[in-house]
Amino acid sequence: MAATGIRTVIAGTGSYLPEKVITNFDLEKMVDTTDEWILSRTGIRERHMAAPEQATSDLATEAGRGALEMAGVDPADLDLIIVATLTPDHYFPSTAGFVQRNIGAMKAAAFDLEAACTGFIYALTIGDLFIRSGTYSKVLVIGAEVLTRFLNWEDRETCVLFGDGAGAAVLVPGSDGKKGIISTHLHSDGSMAELLYAPAGVSRMPITKEAIDQKLNTVKMRGNEVFKVAVTRLSEVVDEVIQANGLGEDDIDFLVPHQANLRIIQATARKLKLPMEKVIVTVDVHGNTSAASVPLALDVAVRSGRIKEGDQVLLEAFGGGLTWGAAFVRW
Ligand SMILES: CC(C)(COP(=O)(O)OP(=O)(O)OC[C@H]1O[C@@H](n2cnc3c(N)ncnc32)[C@H](O)[C@@H]1OP(=O)(O)O)[C@@H](O)C(=O)NCCC(=O)NCCS
Repeated sequence: MAATGIRTVIAGTGSYLPEKVITNFDLEKMVDTTDEWILSRTGIRERHMAAPEQATSDLATEAGRGALEMAGVDPADLDLIIVATLTPDHYFPSTAGFVQRNIGAMKAAAFDLEAACTGFIYALTIGDLFIRSGTYSKVLVIGAEVLTRFLNWEDRETCVLFGDGAGAAVLVPGSDGKKGIISTHLHSDGSMAELLYAPAGVSRMPITKEAIDQKLNTVKMRGNEVFKVAVTRLSEVVDEVIQANGLGEDDIDFLVPHQANLRIIQATARKLKLPMEKVIVTVDVHGNTSAASVPLALDVAVRSGRIKEGDQVLLEAFGGGLTWGAAFVRW
């Protein structure tokens, strides 16, 4: 907890989406699906796809630059870079190291964090702890993914859901003690790991020709089961935020949810009795970008002027692990 009494402020946000857009109509030509099915079951209309030469660190770098610029922080002054991703450039070294090199943050420590779609909430929590402990004063946290490279483009149950992108936030110590990250809440249940995972590619099942032929290095998901757990766990974690901070009905100005499925987002909004005008929705145009989803939606809301100084904002996410979590922030 806050031994120093410092509160961490999000001084800048940034995001990046690759140029290429894949619409539901494009997918109709690739797998047995329809725009109507995808839109009604998920709320997704389109998603972005990285160019062949772009890796996760390239997307992360652009998002990071945007956040640093908004915060007015020189990359050379950064103390720490955390990249949350399940689609790193390489399995080693870290994607964060490439971001460091790209932006010239040579004083910073840098590492990756893997908590699937909840990765940004985990990274924000760790960044917050480094600031509040007084260890660091300038931290860049990024969620970035090139998921389209790890999808089975013949599996209509998964390939329609995901997209590529990156979002970032710069964390600094606050000066007034009011603004900033008020609480964070992290959870995990490894007993359900295989509901959403990639069976092959690393130590459990290294890449072989057979593994590739069976597309075992791509995302496998038991969607219906994941859906039910997501709704329950997100309901629990938002309750936890309400209890921890003694919040009343009007105390949340905006919900910035993980953008996996509009029906899951609506269920959380109903639970919070929040009208959809107070919910930031980007799933229609981003799809599920895993660790990038929350910071991408946050940046869209901040840059469009929807989230303003003084607003109380609830961020939440759920994903592989299974993992879930939330952060409550006063802007
Ligand atoms: C994936 C998801 C959209 C599927 O929606 P659903 O309403 O649960 O649909 P089901 O999986 O029950 O499938 C219903 C039918 O649609 C079919 N279907 C699945 N994908 C389809 C597609 N892209 N196009 C057309 N039909 C499809 C199924 O084969 C099934 O057909 P059947 O009834 O003949 O067997 C939904 O389960 C979901 O969003 N899950 C959670 C996803 C998530 O949040 N994941 C990541 C967490 S980070």
